[in-house]
Amino acid sequence: MKEIKHKWWQEAIGYQIYIRSFQDSNNDGIGDLKGIISRLDYLKYLGINLIWICPFCSSPMDDNGYDVSDFYDVSSDYGSLNDIKTLIIKAHDKGIKVMMDLILNHTSDEHYWFKEARKAKDNPYHDYYIWGNPRIINGEKKEPTNWASFFGGSAWEYNETTDEYYMKIFSKKMPDLNWKNPMVQKEMIKVATFWCDLGIDGFRIDAASHLGKDTLVDVVVDKPEDWYHHNCIKFSNLPIVHEYMHILNKEVFSKYDIITVGEVGGYASVDDALKFTMPSREELEMVFNFDHNWCNNGWDRAESEKQRINVAHLKEMFNKWQTGLQGKTWNAIYWLNHDQPRVATHYGDKDYYLESTKMLAIALYFMWGTPFIYNGEEIGMTSPKFTSLNDFRDVSIKNAYLYDVVEHGETFEHFIKRVSYSTRDNARTLMQWDDSINGGFSQGKPWNIICSNYQKINVKNEINDPTSVLSFYKKVIDLRLNSKYKDVITYGKYQQLYYEHPSLYCYERILKKQKLLVICNLTDNIVELPLIKEEYQNIILSNYPNNLRKVQELPLNLKPFEAYVLVCD
Ligand code: GLC
Ligand code: CA
Repeated sequence: MKEIKHKWWQEAIGYQIYIRSFQDSNNDGIGDLKGIISRLDYLKYLGINLIWICPFCSSPMDDNGYDVSDFYDVSSDYGSLNDIKTLIIKAHDKGIKVMMDLILNHTSDEHYWFKEARKAKDNPYHDYYIWGNPRIINGEKKEPTNWASFFGGSAWEYNETTDEYYMKIFSKKMPDLNWKNPMVQKEMIKVATFWCDLGIDGFRIDAASHLGKDTLVDVVVDKPEDWYHHNCIKFSNLPIVHEYMHILNKEVFSKYDIITVGEVGGYASVDDALKFTMPSREELEMVFNFDHNWCNNGWDRAESEKQRINVAHLKEMFNKWQTGLQGKTWNAIYWLNHDQPRVATHYGDKDYYLESTKMLAIALYFMWGTPFIYNGEEIGMTSPKFTSLNDFRDVSIKNAYLYDVVEHGETFEHFIKRVSYSTRDNARTLMQWDDSINGGFSQGKPWNIICSNYQKINVKNEINDPTSVLSFYKKVIDLRLNSKYKDVITYGKYQQLYYEHPSLYCYERILKKQKLLVICNLTDNIVELPLIKEEYQNIILSNYPNNLRKVQELPLNLKPFEAYVLVCD
């Protein structure tokens, strides 16, 4: 029989680093590449073998680096090209691969191409971007379409010198590139090639699903006052996107032994994902979907209410992606990234902080796909408490404030409560290394706030505590990468059990004779343990301090958030 050759990224555990908040090396208050280098020993200790570093190229930092002004250089905030080269070499020495964001959808408005493009319609760079003519409606100049930006307001911004609007589906400082233009394709092929030649091991492809745009026709709205309509079907997962990915694959990705993960967003179906990732299509290796990100009452809970997992919804989402892709392509699994609230707060429970945080690690990281842990998740970092507008940094919150509070009269109290649950700033507070000033992140004045619990929840405290979240993550990582269960966890078939159960999330992983069973109580209810197949005998992991080893010793009832991993050795 022909032996199946596995790819390195199938057996990788990724760790996402939000560079700005991770570690400052020169006390200017901003995390940087040398800071990451100084923490490589920690990452090695944790056991991961792949890092994804958020954007570090030159940028005016309107969106913390997702607005690139020079794709070939490193931002002076973060260091130099030499620093990233050193980082790659040192990481490789420790067996850690390095991936970066590849931002294809837009540039900064301060990028040379755009500075040129906006000067005149016949400028050679004009066609690098997407332009539309103003419409006159009721005597007023209006945007070419009613499409909304993800960051509030219109998806268009007026450009006086040409009397046109340019498209910007994110901030007005992030004009969208025109991928129909072969010159744009060539430029981005050059960019990706440059970084591969420099030694990068892969790309997280930012906003991958948005590269193709529909013809410039209004979205149909229910209410006429909904001028900027929040419906991104006009620029999400259109068929043309796959042509662009295929070109990138042929011209760059396939020439290197790299990993590519596309961010495909909330509107991508399993079918879309298959198109992006089926090996025969030669596009990407895997995608990040958003379906599991809001399976709770996070958007609409009352002040007094706890945040709760919507168990049925979460199970449905996991099942859909696990079974929809398995056997056909590869998957990526993650709880959160820099755009989502902290999982310990979002799906965890304050009253059962340790138990629920560890349970969430069990629930996710024994599933099928390459895991991506978000920095600070492994120590159980929580979302912070926001009390004033000054606590926020994210451009999308500033836009929302202007639009909702200043222009449309939402009260400030209501606004701050509402955005606190959902803001991307939740995940961007400083990394909590120790209990010293600024949590060991910097001796200078940091660019961002730190969570008030940093003196308790930090790496230094947790590293020597066998009951900490950090020690637990280390165990999970070790089981995935180094134990005799490695193959079944990596390649085993996923199958959800007790699908209708209102509190439990259970699944099996099966690879020939190897079997593993995960049982998680996703709620604070006491739940009767379901009947377990006799073949399961041993317990390899649990989140309560009970040291149980044998399945016969399991309690009849599961406590709040109690979770187990069972095997049939
Ligand atoms: C992606 C990034 C997000 C960024 C946006 C625009 O969604 O994750 O942080 O703002 O793309 O680049
Ligand atoms: Ca710095």
